[in-house]
Amino acid sequence: MLGTGSCMPERVLTNTDLERMVETSDEWITARTGIRTRRIAGPDEQNYQLATCAARRALEAAGVRADELGLIIVATISPHMLMPSCACFVQAELGAAKAFAFDLNAACSGFLYGLDVARKYVAADPNIKVLVIGSETLSARVDWEDRNTCILFGDGAGACVVGSAEGRGIVDSCLLSDGSLWNLLYMDSPASTNPDLLDPKSKGCVIQMSGKDVFKYAVRAMEDVVCQLLARLQLTIADIALLIPHQANIRILDNLAERLGAQPSQIFCNVDKYGNTSAASIPIALDEAVREGRLQHGDKLLLCAFGGGFTWGSMLLEW
Ligand code: ACO
Repeated sequence: MLGTGSCMPERVLTNTDLERMVETSDEWITARTGIRTRRIAGPDEQNYQLATCAARRALEAAGVRADELGLIIVATISPHMLMPSCACFVQAELGAAKAFAFDLNAACSGFLYGLDVARKYVAADPNIKVLVIGSETLSARVDWEDRNTCILFGDGAGACVVGSAEGRGIVDSCLLSDGSLWNLLYMDSPASTNPDLLDPKSKGCVIQMSGKDVFKYAVRAMEDVVCQLLARLQLTIADIALLIPHQANIRILDNLAERLGAQPSQIFCNVDKYGNTSAASIPIALDEAVREGRLQHGDKLLLCAFGGGFTWGSMLLEW
C-alpha cells in the first residue's frame, strides 16, 4: 500500500437534525449505534467526484502520477449511473490514460475484495500500480422516512494506491460470501421497463434491512474470519497493532472486540463522525489512522468487513 487518501462531503447531518425528520432521538441513535453525525453529499459531490478527490489525495501520498496507473477499481453499491461504471468516470477525471477501470459490488466488504484483486494483479505484474477506491453516496439510497435505516448511513470516499514494495504489504486474506441470506440486507434495482421482469414485491431502490439479524451475523462472521486468518498465520490478536473493522455501528465493534479479546486501543473507530459508509468505511478509517500516525513501519494491521450478500472477509497487512 503506497499511499492513502479520503474525501468527505461538506454537509454534516446530526442526530438532532434527524429528530426533525423521523420519530427518533439523539439518545436512541447514540446508545444503539454510537453514531452522532454523518456526511451527506450535495451538488458537485457525486459518488465519482468524491472518489476522484480521495484518489488524488492517495496518489499524492504515494508519489504516483495518474498516468502510471494500470488499473482502477471502485468498490461501491451507490454509483450515480449503472453504466458507465464509477471507475470509468474516475479514470477520465484523473486522466489515467493507461488504466483499465471497473466497479466491484461486494457491499460493505467491497474495499477488501478490491484490495485482494489488486494484490493478485501486483503479484502477477510487479510493475503495475492499482488504485483501489471505496466510495458511496448512500444518502441517495436510503428511505428518509424509515427510521430503522436512515439514521445509520453516510456518504464519503477513501482510496489507496497498491503496488509492489520491499518488506511490507498485504500478507494474506480470507474472503467469504453467502448469497442464501441475501434478503436480510438488500437494495432492489430501479424498476424494470420490461413488464415481464417487473417484481411486484419490489420495495424500490433503497436499503432494506433486518437489523437484529444483520447484527448477529456481522459479529459472528467477522469474529470467525479474523480467527481463521490469525490461526492460518500462527498469530494471536495480541500481535495486531491495529484492527480496522468496517464501521457499521459501535455495538458491533464493541461485541467484536470483546469476542476477539482485543484491547480498545487496538480498534480504530470513527463511526461516531461518519456513520456507516459501506465500502468507503475501511479506506476512510485507514486514511485517518495513517494521517494520525497510528501505524508504524513493521506494524501488523488487520482489516475486517461484513456486508450485504452476505459478504465478509479479513486481511492482514505488514505496514
Ligand atoms: N429511533 C427510535 N426508535 C427506533 C429507531 C430509531 N431510529 N429505529 C427503530 N426504533 C425502534 C423500533 O421500532 C423498536 O420499537 P418497538 O420495540 O416498539 O418495535 C425499538 O426501537 C427497538 O428496535 P430494534 O430493532 O429491536 O433495535 P435494535 O436494538 O436491534 O437496534 C439497530 C436497531 C441499530 C438497527 C441494530 O439492530 C443494528 O445495529 N443492526 C445492525 C445493522 C447494521 O449495522 N446495518 C448496516 C448494514 S450491514 C453492515 O454494515 C454490517
